[in-house]
Amino acid sequence: MLAALFPTVKFGLIGAGVVGRMRAQVLGSRLVAVADTDRAAAERIGVPAVTEYRRLLDDPRVDAIIVATPAPLHRDMVLHALGAGKHVLCEKPLATTVEACREIVSQAGDRVLAVGFNHRYFPCMQHLKRAVASGSLGDIQHVRALAGHRGVSEFRAEWMYRGDLSGGGVMMDIGLHMTDLIRWVAGEITEVFGVASGNVWKVPGSEDHATATMVTAGGVPVSYHATWGEWKGYRLVLEIYGSRGLTRAYYAPMANLDAPREGPRRWRLYPLLNVHERLFGWEATAKHAFAEEIGDFERAVRGEGWGALATATDGLRAVEIAAAVRGARACTSA
Ligand SMILES: NC(=O)c1ccc[n+]([C@@H]2O[C@H](COP(=O)([O-])OP(=O)(O)OC[C@H]3O[C@@H](n4cnc5c(N)ncnc54)[C@H](O)[C@@H]3O)[C@@H](O)[C@H]2O)c1
Repeated sequence: MLAALFPTVKFGLIGAGVVGRMRAQVLGSRLVAVADTDRAAAERIGVPAVTEYRRLLDDPRVDAIIVATPAPLHRDMVLHALGAGKHVLCEKPLATTVEACREIVSQAGDRVLAVGFNHRYFPCMQHLKRAVASGSLGDIQHVRALAGHRGVSEFRAEWMYRGDLSGGGVMMDIGLHMTDLIRWVAGEITEVFGVASGNVWKVPGSEDHATATMVTAGGVPVSYHATWGEWKGYRLVLEIYGSRGLTRAYYAPMANLDAPREGPRRWRLYPLLNVHERLFGWEATAKHAFAEEIGDFERAVRGEGWGALATATDGLRAVEIAAAVRGARACTSA
C-alpha cells in the first residue's frame, strides 16, 4: 500500500569517485547500477557495474541518473540521460560554460533535472533561509558572503582546478555553491561588478580569488568573496543583515549566530553533526546533505514539489553570474 503511494525511484550512478561513493552509500538499495571507466572503482560500490555509462541509460529499471563525473563530462552525459528519458541529478557545475548550461536547460522537457547544490541542505543554511522567510530579520538591507579553502593543493586531479577544463577557478568550485546560496536565500542577482584575479596559484584561466558587489532583484547589495587562499581551510560564511538584526551561517564547524538589533545574541552549534564530522570527516556532513537532497529529488520525481532542490536554471544562473564577475571592466581616464 505504502509502496504504491510512494513508489521508490530507482537510480543509476555515473562516476564512482569520491562524491559518487558517498551518493551510493546514501542511496543504498535504491541504486540499481553504476558506471565508471575505472572498473575497479565501479565494482567497489557493490551493485552491478559497467564501464560504459550509456548502458545505464538503456536500463529500463533506472528512473533517474546521478552524474558524479568530472565537470567537463557533464554536458554530454546530462544531455544523453535526458534524451533517454531519465530524470537527472547532476553534480555542480551543471556544465563548464554558459552556452552548455543553456543548451541543457532547453532540453530538460518534463524530466526532473536538478543540480547538486547540496550546501542548501546544511542546517546552518536552512536556518538562514527560514530566518529570511519568517520576516524575523525585517527588511533585508545587505548580504555578506565568503567561500574559500586552501586552493590547488587540495585537488586530486587537474580537471578540478584548470580553467580550460572546468570553465574557471574558485568561482566554479566553492564559489559556485556560495553564488547559489546567495540567490536561494536573498533572491535573484541582477547586477554584478566584479574583479577576478589569479595571482596566488597562477593557473592560467583559473581565478583563485574573486571579489564582487552584486545586487539582487530587490535592490539588496551583496558583498561576495571567493578564494583559494583561505589558509585556515574550508570556510563558508553567509550573513544576512536586516532592519531588525543579523543572522550568520558558518561552516566549518556548522554554526549560526542570530544577533537582533535589540535583545540577546543566540548561537546554534549543531553538536551532533559537528561531533560526527570530527569523528568521520567532512564526508559525514556531506552525506547528511546528500540524503536530504535525494529526498527532495524523489519527491520532485513523484510530482510533490521541489523543496530546496536546485533546478537546472539555478545551475545555469550560478555559471552565468561567475562569468559576469570575470567579465573585465575598464575604468580609465579619457
Ligand atoms: N557538491 C559538492 O560539495 C561536491 C564536492 C566535490 C565534488 N563535487 C562534484 O562532483 C563531481 C565528481 O567529483 P569527485 O570529487 O567525485 O571526482 P572523482 O575524480 O573522485 O570521481 C570522478 C569519477 O568519474 C569517473 N569517470 C571519469 N570519466 C568517466 C566516464 N567517461 N564515464 C564514467 N565515469 C567516468 C572517474 O573514473 C572517477 O571515478 C564533480 O562534478 C565535482 O565538481 C561536488
